[in-house]
Amino acid sequence: MPDPIALVPLPQSVIWSEGTWVTDDPWDSLSVGLSEGLGRTEYSLSISPDGASLAAGSEAALADGRNTFAQIVSGAAGSIPCVTIHDHPKHAWRGMMLDVSRHFRTVPELETMIDAMALHRLNVLHLHLTDDQGWRLEVRGYPKLTEVGAWRDQTLIGHHQAEAGTWEFDGTPHGGYYTQDELRGLVEYARRRGIMIVPEVDLPGHMQAAIASYPELGNNPEVQLGVRQVWGISDHVLGVADEVFDFLRDVLTQVADIFPGPYVHIGGDECPRVEWERSSAARARMNEWGLTRVSEIQGRFTSFAAEVLAEHGKRVVAWDEVLESHLPDDTVVMNWRRAAGLKESTARGFQTVIANSEHTYFDYYQGDPDEEPLAIGGLTTVEDVYTADLVPGRLDGDQHKLLIGLQGQLWSEYMPTAQQVQYMAFPRMCALAERAWGSPEQSWEEFEERLRAHLPRLDAFGISYRPLD
Ligand code: ACM
Repeated sequence: MPDPIALVPLPQSVIWSEGTWVTDDPWDSLSVGLSEGLGRTEYSLSISPDGASLAAGSEAALADGRNTFAQIVSGAAGSIPCVTIHDHPKHAWRGMMLDVSRHFRTVPELETMIDAMALHRLNVLHLHLTDDQGWRLEVRGYPKLTEVGAWRDQTLIGHHQAEAGTWEFDGTPHGGYYTQDELRGLVEYARRRGIMIVPEVDLPGHMQAAIASYPELGNNPEVQLGVRQVWGISDHVLGVADEVFDFLRDVLTQVADIFPGPYVHIGGDECPRVEWERSSAARARMNEWGLTRVSEIQGRFTSFAAEVLAEHGKRVVAWDEVLESHLPDDTVVMNWRRAAGLKESTARGFQTVIANSEHTYFDYYQGDPDEEPLAIGGLTTVEDVYTADLVPGRLDGDQHKLLIGLQGQLWSEYMPTAQQVQYMAFPRMCALAERAWGSPEQSWEEFEERLRAHLPRLDAFGISYRPLD
């Protein structure tokens, strides 16, 4: 049984009082309403012996309040402690990224993740929908993306090694994709729980699954590639023909229509240039575009994607490599490579999400690698997530205001099952949620105590978390 007072994340103000509210059906008896007296992100929850009421300044804040109420009642068995809570988040973006390309997750598995995120008052699910190893999104007019690009014949066993000679494969096909109707359903499921889904179409690199589906999207249309079966970074990136840009327009237009939120993530990370360097078509394009360096080609893709998305009223989100190009002023930069990069993106005036690999990559080991399931590498314990200095160096006040939130990353190369995703996500996600919410500062020891008392809530959700040491 969870301790009802072990709230994670800790609300901004919590005052427990004597007495209990006795009820068999707390949800039916909770009175809920919007209140003009509260700010848009604020909610106020009151539980007394006479009943419980929740007021908030917006639907989003009501969802936050409901999620706090859920934590309290989940451990209370008919006799609920009395409390007054006033609360609001510090950060607008409280996210988790889930890579469904490297390993596909079913819609019910995503719903479980959404439920668990809501319990922790996280509000952004960033879905990494496309990559070299699998294309997961139905796009009308491009059936091969899901007939071909959503499936790989087999998957590398063990750690990725650079030399092909050492590779061993499992011989088992893997794949799957989401129809547009399924994605719309998921968007609605998440919305009802206060969570926005931000879709990612990673471009112009990480595109091998699309190029395997339609070789004319690549730099060597005469070569038939397969969907990638190993990890690491593929050299096969988008080509520069007009039809590639037509393809991107179609994909982004449909994505903008499926996902009603204001953001679309266009990736932009890890785009090798070797194919462009060897391509006469790319050189001809550079002349036409007035570019002098091959490295500038990526900027054309970024600008094109941003223009298409702007036509649909969407803002671009992208990994921090895009800082090498010109960007629309309203771009949201996801700082992943080094926390020191926060300085550049905020100095240039971009809203920025802290997603750095040092502290928010939940594909890293969370304990001794000899005793943990295979992971990509690194070491980020739950204590690291709770205590790390996420903004090293000095940012001035205006730059700080541009840090709009925090996000954990679940890259899934080494997470073949939903249980493994959960094991890597929890309890690190609990620590991330508390920091993203901006809870009053507590020591790691105090947090750990609350976390131990909170873990039975995860049990109740059927979440396979990693036990605390
Ligand atoms: C990334 O980890 N390639 C964003």
